[in-house]
Amino acid sequence: MKVFISGNIAQVGIAQLKEKNIEITQWDKDRQITAEELIEACKGQDALVSVGPNKIDAKFLNAAKHLKVIALHSVGFDQVDVDEAKKLNIPVGNTPGVLSGATASAAFLLMLAVSRKAFYLHKKIINGNWQNYEPTPELGIELNGKTLGVFGLGKIGLEMAKKCAGAFQMPVIYHNRSRNEDAEKEIDAKYVSFEELLEQSDVISVHTALTDETKDKFSIDVFKKMKPTSIFINTARGGIHNEKDLIQALEEKIIWGAGLDVTNPEPMDKNNPLLNMDNAAVLPHIGSATEETRDAMAKLIAENILAGLNGDKLPYPIW
Ligand code: DGY
Repeated sequence: MKVFISGNIAQVGIAQLKEKNIEITQWDKDRQITAEELIEACKGQDALVSVGPNKIDAKFLNAAKHLKVIALHSVGFDQVDVDEAKKLNIPVGNTPGVLSGATASAAFLLMLAVSRKAFYLHKKIINGNWQNYEPTPELGIELNGKTLGVFGLGKIGLEMAKKCAGAFQMPVIYHNRSRNEDAEKEIDAKYVSFEELLEQSDVISVHTALTDETKDKFSIDVFKKMKPTSIFINTARGGIHNEKDLIQALEEKIIWGAGLDVTNPEPMDKNNPLLNMDNAAVLPHIGSATEETRDAMAKLIAENILAGLNGDKLPYPIW
């Protein structure tokens, strides 16, 4: 059996596949594979490990309908045309659960960094602008006792809520399409409407999937309903906030700050104004990028591939 891997995954997953005598071909160039190159690379392969944002859309799926399984190197699957995969009977799997802690840590890191203007002040030192000790300029804000609003209380949102409640005694409110009663029992989280989430939160952290419903959800009208002292954090998908509107909201002090691990597009242009604002912190989509998490993801990928090649039900299917 032959598997094409469109990027670098942790060795532990590759070893699991090689143990079963699977022949592996890997994309080894220092750039993202293009849509055409992906189609070409999948010719003669039995399975694909899709690493990165490549679209697994109708065009790709129809050109690669011989694939027995596609394993995503992500929990998010907004890049996949699930209906088309179902129609063509190509099983697609993802990596749920194992990256919740790491992604929530990235959200927590960004919240702290924004609250203390850490990235901006670090840049000041690098640029030779640390002059002297001044008690009043460029102050941060405290997080203790502030209200965390989680937009999308699933596994990752719950981890973020636990960290914030534990470290800063932050009361938690959340908005989902439907209530998460298990999470409500685990932490003392209160379900609120989207409007209430905007009005009551001191920090809003986004942990939902990118769908037609959530695309551009955080627009200027929405930022205007948030507190002027509030912080917006997005570690989910860049498409959930409107980047132009976010820049306006930060420039006009409609909200206090923003921390992003995801942007739209990715990679972010190095001249993007968000990179030089005192009230923004941006990371290059590193939510799941710890050694432990990437190892765990690679293991789930290998399990999905082996099951799919065997004609078995995937252990971690998205359909
Ligand atoms: C995920 O797993 O969805 C991460 O954001 C990586 O894409």
